[in-house]
Order: sequence, then structure tokens, then C-alpha cells
Amino acid sequence: MKTLNINLGDRSYPIYIGQKLLSNKEIFHQHAKAESIAIVTNDTVAPLYLNILMDNLGKNKKIIPIILPDGEVYKNLDTLNLIYDALLKNKAGRDVLLIALGGGVVGDICGFAAASFMRGVDFIQIPTTLLSQVDSSVGGKTGINHRLGKNMVGAFYQPKCVVVDIDLLNTLPQRELSAGLAEVIKYGLIRDLEFFNWLEAHIEQLVNKDSARLIEAIERSCINKAEVVEADELESDKNIRATLNLGHTFGHAIENEMGYGKWLHGEAVAAGIVMAAYMSKELGWLTAQDYLRIIQLIELVGLPISPPKISEEKFIDLMLSDKKTKGNQINLVLQTSIGKAVLINEYDPEILSKTLNHNFS
Ligand code: NAD
Ligand code: GLY
Repeated sequence: MKTLNINLGDRSYPIYIGQKLLSNKEIFHQHAKAESIAIVTNDTVAPLYLNILMDNLGKNKKIIPIILPDGEVYKNLDTLNLIYDALLKNKAGRDVLLIALGGGVVGDICGFAAASFMRGVDFIQIPTTLLSQVDSSVGGKTGINHRLGKNMVGAFYQPKCVVVDIDLLNTLPQRELSAGLAEVIKYGLIRDLEFFNWLEAHIEQLVNKDSARLIEAIERSCINKAEVVEADELESDKNIRATLNLGHTFGHAIENEMGYGKWLHGEAVAAGIVMAAYMSKELGWLTAQDYLRIIQLIELVGLPISPPKISEEKFIDLMLSDKKTKGNQINLVLQTSIGKAVLINEYDPEILSKTLNHNFS
């Protein structure tokens, strides 16, 4: 097992990465001491892993399983209320521990429940998708969607630890694994050229779920994420944490327009990364050769390299409702090279227009 640490003063915590961690006694003995523990999961993950976790937590605790309906469409206020209902019905107090057992949807909503229930209770992340293992479980962004926009309601709230068990990926559908690889590639693109080179060399093994390679990719992703979060926990510097949103402004527009869940988050991000790379190339920042390298890697994963058909007007409208938008200016994370990204708000609008009208297929 590998242990990384996120150093955030009194909000510091470890990330454990390895195999068979869901049944690892020491981790849960150390981090799940509470008498009362609520496990928030969903109706896909519960039949696979809930019993293993409950058995590992021991018989002497009060365990409250909270099984939510599966899907991005349920990452909303009504579902959040189901968590509060279950906690209150079971007379949970400020000493309850919440455990998120699931992908990014469960992690985000459980984290926000932990941030807000009785003004904040402890929680642990057990991410069960690749995307949540390399991104959403680490760094403390929690929240839910609003019908007018994705992730519009939430809080920064750090977990007490993150348990990344790669064995849980054995049951993950291939399409979901590929979606997670979009966020892995993102780290190489925004700040780690060496990692991008490594990904080009090992992408086939990652797609085929080679355990050793997966552990290495997750570890390198989490190290990158940890460094970014340590430098800018609350996303207050426009050139640090905000760069994690490479491809996301375009991607969120795609997700919103298509209806949550039709395009997976990682798929929309992949198409968004290609759009950002194209725009960077057109601005003269990225070479044509590097643009092609990005497209090739994304294609090898089987991810989309072109957005669905959305008019320029609609795209702009959707992007204007993104959280990164200030006034009428759409802020975008673009590449200055492979391994370097910046958030910019001044660019030739003609180039954005060209990007939105480009035929990527
Ligand atoms: P998800 O949580 O919807 O999981 C994808 C699907 O896989 C679901 O159907 C789920 O039930 C299923 N599943 C999960 N684990 C499984 C397993 N081990 N075996 C079989 N099936 C399994 O999607 P996701 O891609 O994990 O997360 C996407 C969400 O994460 C979005 O809501 C996005 O906004 C959010 N996100 C948050 C952050 C953050 O920093 N908080 C970062 C990136 C993404
Ligand atoms: N996934 C973006 C962030 O954590 O900031």
C-alpha cells in the first residue's frame, strides 16, 4: 500500500492507494473510530461492496446504510435531503462519521452532507471509479447540481482520509474507466509533461486495467492533485487550482446541453480538452504536432474527440453560466504547451468562435 499526504495544516489527511483496502483492518481501525457510522452509497455499488465494508467496520457499531438512486441526475437537493432524513431518523449526532462509498456523484453529495449536517461532521472518501480515485475524492470540493447549472451549490470540505482500492475497478464498466482516464490525462497536460510522456507509453495497459500501471497512474495523478490543492485550496489564485478545469468549461456546456448523464463527465471533459487544445493551437501557443499528440492519446482511450452538435450561440450561453464566468467574459483554461496551462480571460473572440464552429470529426 502507498500512502500520500495532503498537507493542509489541521485539515491534512492521508490518501491510501493499493489493493484489498476495503477489507484492510488497520485503516478503518484508525480512521473509523466513531460509534455511529453512516455509509452513503448507491443502488449499483451497494450490492457489490457494502457488505464487505460493513463487515470490516465491526459488529459493535451502529451502521446506517444510506442507499441512493444511481446517477448524475440524482446529485441534487432532493437526494441530499434523503441523507439528512436518514441521519435524523437514526438520531445521528455531531459525532457521526459519514463514509462515501461510490463514484464522484456519491462522493460529492456525501461530502456536502458532511459539510452541512449539524454544521459539519467527519467523513471518509472511498472512491470506486477511476475518476473519483484520481480527482473528485481528493481536494475537498463537495456539492450538488442545480437545475440551472452543474455543481452550483456546494462547499470546500476536506475528508479525514481517502481510501483508493484499485480492486474495486474490476467491476467498473470500461466506458467509465475511459472517462476516468480523461482526468488522468488532464494532469499531464496542465502540469506534468513527464507524466504525459509516460501515459503515451502505457495507455494500452491502463485501458486493460493492468494493476501495477493503474496504481502508478493513480499515484502520479493524486500527487499532482495534492500539490495543486496544497498551493491553492480554495481556488483563489487564477493560475493554480483553476487549471484543473482544463476542458471543463466546454465540457460542462456539453453535459448541460445533452442532459446530465447522457455524456459521462469524463467524456465531455475529453471533448473539452480537444477544443481547448485546438483554441490554444489557433492562438499560436500549442504546436500542431502537440495538438495531434493530445488527440491521439484521447482517441487511444476511446474517448470522444469532438463535441456533439451545439450551435455557437447555445454554447456561449451555456458557458456563460459556468462558475468561472465573471460578468460576460468566459474564462478558459488553455494550454501554452503540453505540461503547462493558464486560465485566461482575454483572447480574440474570433478564435473562440472558430473553435465552436470547427468540425473536429
Ligand atoms: P459516478 O459517480 O456517476 O459513477 C459512474 C457509474 O459507475 C455509476 O453508475 C456508478 O454507480 C458506477 N460505479 C461506481 N463504482 C463502481 C464500481 N466499482 N463498479 C461498478 N460500477 C460502479 O461518476 P464519476 O465519473 O465517478 O463521477 C462524476 C461526478 O464527479 C460528477 O458529478 C462530477 O461533477 C464530479 N466530479 C467532482 C470533482 C470534485 O473535485 N469534487 C472532480 C471531478 C468530478
Ligand atoms: N476537479 C477540480 C478541482 O478539484 O478543483
